Amino acid sequence: MKYTLITGASSGIGKALSFQYAEKGHNLIVTARREYELNKLKAEIQDKYDVEVVIKPFDLSEPDAAERLYEELAGLSLENMINNAGFGDFSMPWDVDVTKAQRMIDLNVRTLTTLSLLFVRDYANHNSTLINVASVGGYSIFDIAVTYCATKFYVSSFTEGLAQSLKEQGLPMQAKVLAPGPTESEFVTQSSHGGAIAGDNLFAEDSFISAAQLASYAYQLYESDADVGIVNNRKLELKKPMYLYISVPH
Ligand SMILES: NC(=O)c1ccc[n+]([C@@H]2O[C@H](COP(=O)([O-])OP(=O)(O)OC[C@H]3O[C@@H](n4cnc5c(N)ncnc54)[C@H](OP(=O)(O)O)[C@@H]3O)[C@@H](O)[C@H]2O)c1
Repeated sequence: MKYTLITGASSGIGKALSFQYAEKGHNLIVTARREYELNKLKAEIQDKYDVEVVIKPFDLSEPDAAERLYEELAGLSLENMINNAGFGDFSMPWDVDVTKAQRMIDLNVRTLTTLSLLFVRDYANHNSTLINVASVGGYSIFDIAVTYCATKFYVSSFTEGLAQSLKEQGLPMQAKVLAPGPTESEFVTQSSHGGAIAGDNLFAEDSFISAAQLASYAYQLYESDADVGIVNNRKLELKKPMYLYISVPH
Protein backbone atom coordinates (compact mmCIF):
# COMPACT_ATOMS: atom_id res chain seq x y z
CA MET A 1 0.00 0.00 0.00
CA LYS A 2 1.28 3.47 -0.92
CA TYR A 3 0.66 6.76 0.86
CA THR A 4 0.59 10.48 0.19
CA LEU A 5 2.07 12.48 3.08
CA ILE A 6 0.40 15.89 3.58
CA THR A 7 1.80 18.31 6.17
CA GLY A 8 -0.42 21.03 7.65
CA ALA A 9 -3.55 18.93 7.07
CA SER A 10 -5.56 20.19 10.05
CA SER A 11 -6.95 23.30 8.29
CA GLY A 12 -7.14 25.36 5.13
CA ILE A 13 -5.24 24.19 2.06
CA GLY A 14 -3.80 21.02 3.63
CA LYS A 15 -7.23 19.86 4.78
CA ALA A 16 -8.66 20.50 1.29
CA LEU A 17 -5.70 18.69 -0.30
CA SER A 18 -6.43 15.69 1.95
CA PHE A 19 -10.02 15.48 0.68
CA GLN A 20 -8.86 16.03 -2.93
CA TYR A 21 -6.26 13.25 -2.82
CA ALA A 22 -8.62 10.88 -0.94
CA GLU A 23 -11.31 11.47 -3.58
CA LYS A 24 -8.77 10.39 -6.20
CA GLY A 25 -8.09 7.18 -4.25
CA HIS A 26 -4.79 8.01 -2.51
CA ASN A 27 -4.11 6.67 1.00
CA LEU A 28 -2.99 9.45 3.30
CA ILE A 29 -0.58 10.21 6.10
CA VAL A 30 -1.67 13.54 7.58
CA THR A 31 0.28 15.65 10.03
CA ALA A 32 -0.12 18.92 11.99
CA ARG A 33 -0.10 19.86 15.69
CA ARG A 34 -3.85 19.65 16.37
CA GLU A 35 -4.50 15.95 16.93
CA TYR A 36 -8.23 16.50 17.48
CA GLU A 37 -8.56 18.08 13.99
CA LEU A 38 -6.54 15.26 12.42
CA ASN A 39 -8.80 12.65 14.04
CA LYS A 40 -11.87 14.52 12.79
CA LEU A 41 -10.37 14.71 9.30
CA LYS A 42 -9.59 10.99 9.33
CA ALA A 43 -13.16 10.09 10.37
CA GLU A 44 -14.72 12.41 7.74
CA ILE A 45 -12.50 11.09 4.94
CA GLN A 46 -12.88 7.41 5.82
CA ASP A 47 -16.65 7.90 6.02
CA LYS A 48 -16.68 9.17 2.46
CA TYR A 49 -13.82 7.44 0.63
CA ASP A 50 -12.36 3.94 0.59
CA VAL A 51 -8.82 4.95 1.59
CA GLU A 52 -6.60 4.52 4.62
CA VAL A 53 -5.70 7.59 6.69
CA VAL A 54 -2.80 7.53 9.16
CA ILE A 55 -2.48 10.49 11.53
CA LYS A 56 0.85 11.77 12.85
CA PRO A 57 0.54 14.71 15.25
CA PHE A 58 3.79 16.70 15.23
CA ASP A 59 5.03 20.22 15.92
CA LEU A 60 7.16 20.52 12.79
CA SER A 61 8.83 23.75 13.93
CA GLU A 62 10.71 21.82 16.63
CA PRO A 63 14.33 20.82 15.99
CA ASP A 64 14.57 17.27 14.57
CA ALA A 65 10.77 16.97 14.21
CA ALA A 66 11.09 16.29 10.49
CA GLU A 67 13.63 13.52 11.08
CA ARG A 68 11.44 11.99 13.85
CA LEU A 69 8.32 12.11 11.63
CA TYR A 70 10.19 10.54 8.71
CA GLU A 71 11.57 7.78 10.97
CA GLU A 72 8.02 6.96 12.08
CA LEU A 73 7.08 6.42 8.43
CA ALA A 74 9.79 3.80 7.92
CA GLY A 75 7.30 0.91 7.57
CA LEU A 76 5.07 2.80 5.12
CA SER A 77 5.74 3.24 1.42
CA LEU A 78 5.36 6.79 0.10
CA GLU A 79 3.91 7.68 -3.29
CA ASN A 80 3.72 11.45 -2.84
CA MET A 81 4.86 14.07 -0.38
CA ILE A 82 3.18 17.48 -0.09
CA ASN A 83 5.01 19.95 2.15
CA ASN A 84 2.22 22.41 2.85
CA ALA A 85 2.57 23.33 6.56
CA GLY A 86 3.62 26.94 6.91
CA PHE A 87 2.65 30.35 8.17
CA GLY A 88 3.37 34.00 7.44
CA ASP A 89 4.03 37.18 9.36
CA PHE A 90 2.56 40.56 8.42
CA SER A 91 5.04 43.10 9.82
CA MET A 92 7.45 45.66 8.45
CA PRO A 93 11.02 44.36 9.01
CA TRP A 94 11.74 46.67 11.96
CA ASP A 95 8.57 45.47 13.76
CA VAL A 96 9.20 41.74 13.30
CA ASP A 97 8.91 39.47 16.34
CA VAL A 98 12.27 37.73 15.86
CA THR A 99 11.17 34.58 17.69
CA LYS A 100 8.15 34.22 15.38
CA ALA A 101 10.41 34.78 12.35
CA GLN A 102 12.78 32.04 13.56
CA ARG A 103 9.87 29.60 14.06
CA MET A 104 8.60 30.50 10.58
CA ILE A 105 12.02 29.75 9.05
CA ASP A 106 12.19 26.46 11.01
CA LEU A 107 8.80 25.36 9.64
CA ASN A 108 8.69 26.91 6.15
CA VAL A 109 12.34 26.22 5.30
CA ARG A 110 14.13 23.81 7.63
CA THR A 111 11.45 21.16 7.99
CA LEU A 112 10.44 21.37 4.32
CA THR A 113 14.08 20.92 3.28
CA THR A 114 14.67 17.94 5.56
CA LEU A 115 11.50 16.12 4.50
CA SER A 116 12.14 16.86 0.80
CA LEU A 117 15.76 15.65 0.92
CA LEU A 118 14.89 12.44 2.80
CA PHE A 119 12.10 11.75 0.27
CA VAL A 120 14.43 12.42 -2.68
CA ARG A 121 17.13 10.21 -1.12
CA ASP A 122 14.74 7.25 -0.75
CA TYR A 123 12.30 7.66 -3.66
CA ALA A 124 14.11 9.41 -6.56
CA ASN A 125 14.04 6.08 -8.42
CA HIS A 126 10.28 5.64 -7.95
CA ASN A 127 7.26 7.08 -9.76
CA SER A 128 6.73 9.56 -6.99
CA THR A 129 5.88 13.25 -6.75
CA LEU A 130 7.01 15.95 -4.35
CA ILE A 131 4.88 19.10 -4.19
CA ASN A 132 6.18 21.96 -2.09
CA VAL A 133 3.77 24.78 -1.30
CA ALA A 134 5.37 28.19 -1.89
CA SER A 135 3.27 31.29 -2.63
CA VAL A 136 2.96 34.08 -5.17
CA GLY A 137 5.17 35.63 -2.46
CA GLY A 138 7.75 33.03 -3.50
CA TYR A 139 8.17 34.86 -6.82
CA SER A 140 7.51 38.49 -5.75
CA ILE A 141 8.35 40.43 -2.61
CA PHE A 142 5.56 42.03 -0.55
CA ASP A 143 6.79 44.85 1.72
CA ILE A 144 4.56 43.73 4.59
CA ALA A 145 6.03 40.22 4.60
CA VAL A 146 9.68 40.36 3.50
CA THR A 147 10.84 37.50 5.74
CA TYR A 148 7.86 35.30 4.82
CA CYS A 149 8.46 35.97 1.10
CA ALA A 150 12.13 35.06 1.54
CA THR A 151 11.10 31.70 3.05
CA LYS A 152 8.87 31.13 0.01
CA PHE A 153 11.62 32.21 -2.47
CA TYR A 154 13.64 29.48 -0.80
CA VAL A 155 10.82 26.97 -1.34
CA SER A 156 10.38 27.93 -5.00
CA SER A 157 14.09 27.98 -5.90
CA PHE A 158 14.92 24.82 -3.91
CA THR A 159 12.02 22.90 -5.46
CA GLU A 160 12.70 24.15 -9.00
CA GLY A 161 16.31 23.04 -8.48
CA LEU A 162 15.20 19.57 -7.38
CA ALA A 163 12.78 19.34 -10.32
CA GLN A 164 15.46 20.17 -12.88
CA SER A 165 18.14 17.97 -11.30
CA LEU A 166 15.76 14.98 -11.28
CA LYS A 167 14.81 15.60 -14.93
CA GLU A 168 18.41 16.07 -16.02
CA GLN A 169 19.36 12.70 -14.49
CA GLY A 170 16.32 11.03 -16.11
CA LEU A 171 14.98 10.03 -12.68
CA PRO A 172 11.28 9.19 -12.44
CA MET A 173 10.50 11.30 -9.35
CA GLN A 174 8.95 14.69 -10.11
CA ALA A 175 9.21 17.81 -7.96
CA LYS A 176 6.75 20.68 -8.33
CA VAL A 177 6.11 24.11 -6.82
CA LEU A 178 2.55 25.09 -5.94
CA ALA A 179 2.35 28.88 -5.55
CA PRO A 180 -1.06 29.92 -4.21
CA GLY A 181 -2.46 33.44 -4.19
CA PRO A 182 -4.99 34.52 -1.53
CA THR A 183 -6.87 31.39 -0.42
CA GLU A 184 -9.53 31.03 2.28
CA SER A 185 -7.89 29.43 5.33
CA GLU A 186 -6.50 30.38 8.75
CA PHE A 187 -3.45 31.89 7.03
CA VAL A 188 -4.38 35.59 7.38
CA THR A 189 -5.23 35.17 11.10
CA GLN A 190 -2.00 33.24 11.78
CA SER A 191 0.09 35.73 9.78
CA SER A 192 -1.40 38.69 11.67
CA HIS A 193 -0.86 37.00 15.04
CA GLY A 194 1.75 38.92 17.04
CA GLY A 195 2.42 41.15 14.03
CA ALA A 196 2.01 44.90 13.76
CA ILE A 197 -0.24 44.75 10.68
CA ALA A 198 -3.80 43.40 10.75
CA GLY A 199 -4.55 41.13 7.82
CA ASP A 200 -8.28 41.91 7.57
CA ASN A 201 -8.12 44.52 4.81
CA LEU A 202 -4.84 43.61 3.11
CA PHE A 203 -6.42 41.63 0.28
CA ALA A 204 -9.67 42.39 -1.54
CA GLU A 205 -12.35 39.92 -0.53
CA ASP A 206 -12.94 38.91 -4.14
CA SER A 207 -9.22 38.04 -4.60
CA PHE A 208 -9.63 34.86 -2.49
CA ILE A 209 -10.36 31.42 -3.87
CA SER A 210 -11.61 28.56 -1.71
CA ALA A 211 -9.18 25.99 -0.32
CA ALA A 212 -11.12 23.34 -2.29
CA GLN A 213 -10.51 25.26 -5.54
CA LEU A 214 -6.80 25.52 -4.70
CA ALA A 215 -6.71 21.78 -3.98
CA SER A 216 -8.21 21.03 -7.39
CA TYR A 217 -5.54 23.30 -8.96
CA ALA A 218 -2.91 21.32 -7.00
CA TYR A 219 -4.23 18.09 -8.49
CA GLN A 220 -4.10 19.61 -12.01
CA LEU A 221 -0.46 20.48 -11.34
CA TYR A 222 0.13 16.93 -10.02
CA GLU A 223 -1.28 15.36 -13.20
CA SER A 224 0.48 17.79 -15.56
CA ASP A 225 4.02 17.88 -16.94
CA ALA A 226 4.49 21.37 -15.50
CA ASP A 227 7.00 22.14 -12.77
CA VAL A 228 5.25 25.19 -11.31
CA GLY A 229 1.58 25.94 -10.70
CA ILE A 230 1.09 29.59 -9.82
CA VAL A 231 -2.25 31.20 -9.08
CA ASN A 232 -2.65 34.51 -10.87
CA ASN A 233 -5.90 36.45 -10.68
CA ARG A 234 -7.62 33.41 -9.17
CA LYS A 235 -6.60 31.25 -12.18
CA LEU A 236 -3.98 28.47 -12.27
CA GLU A 237 -1.01 29.03 -14.58
CA LEU A 238 1.08 25.91 -15.30
CA LYS A 239 4.68 26.80 -16.05
CA LYS A 240 8.19 25.57 -16.66
CA PRO A 241 10.77 26.54 -13.98
CA MET A 242 11.30 30.29 -13.71
CA TYR A 243 14.83 30.47 -12.22
CA LEU A 244 17.97 30.09 -14.34
CA TYR A 245 19.35 26.56 -13.83
CA ILE A 246 23.05 26.01 -14.50
CA SER A 247 24.44 22.53 -14.87
CA VAL A 248 28.08 22.42 -13.73
CA PRO A 249 30.15 19.55 -15.23
CA HIS A 250 31.43 17.33 -12.40
N1 LIG B 1 -3.96 30.99 2.36
C1 LIG B 1 -3.24 31.76 1.57
O1 LIG B 1 -3.68 32.84 1.15
C2 LIG B 1 -1.86 31.30 1.14
C3 LIG B 1 -1.24 31.96 0.06
C4 LIG B 1 0.02 31.53 -0.35
C5 LIG B 1 0.64 30.47 0.29
N2 LIG B 1 0.02 29.85 1.34
C6 LIG B 1 0.73 28.73 1.98
O2 LIG B 1 -0.15 27.62 2.05
C7 LIG B 1 0.27 26.75 3.11
C8 LIG B 1 -0.95 26.32 3.91
O3 LIG B 1 -1.49 27.44 4.58
P1 LIG B 1 -3.06 27.69 4.75
O4 LIG B 1 -3.39 28.86 3.92
O5 LIG B 1 -3.83 26.45 4.58
O6 LIG B 1 -3.08 28.19 6.28
P2 LIG B 1 -3.64 27.49 7.60
O7 LIG B 1 -5.12 27.27 7.47
O8 LIG B 1 -3.16 28.36 8.71
O9 LIG B 1 -2.92 26.08 7.63
C9 LIG B 1 -1.59 25.91 8.07
C10 LIG B 1 -1.37 24.45 8.43
O10 LIG B 1 -0.01 24.30 8.88
C11 LIG B 1 -0.02 23.66 10.15
N3 LIG B 1 1.05 24.14 11.01
C12 LIG B 1 1.27 25.42 11.43
N4 LIG B 1 2.31 25.44 12.29
C13 LIG B 1 2.73 24.16 12.43
C14 LIG B 1 3.75 23.53 13.21
N5 LIG B 1 4.55 24.23 14.04
N6 LIG B 1 3.90 22.18 13.12
C15 LIG B 1 3.09 21.45 12.30
N7 LIG B 1 2.11 21.99 11.55
C16 LIG B 1 1.93 23.32 11.61
C17 LIG B 1 -1.38 24.02 10.77
O11 LIG B 1 -1.78 23.00 11.70
P3 LIG B 1 -1.71 23.10 13.30
O12 LIG B 1 -2.05 24.50 13.68
O13 LIG B 1 -2.73 22.09 13.74
O14 LIG B 1 -0.33 22.69 13.64
C18 LIG B 1 -2.28 23.98 9.55
O15 LIG B 1 -2.72 22.67 9.30
C19 LIG B 1 1.32 27.53 3.90
O16 LIG B 1 2.61 27.05 3.56
C20 LIG B 1 1.15 28.96 3.42
O17 LIG B 1 2.33 29.70 3.51
C21 LIG B 1 -1.21 30.24 1.77
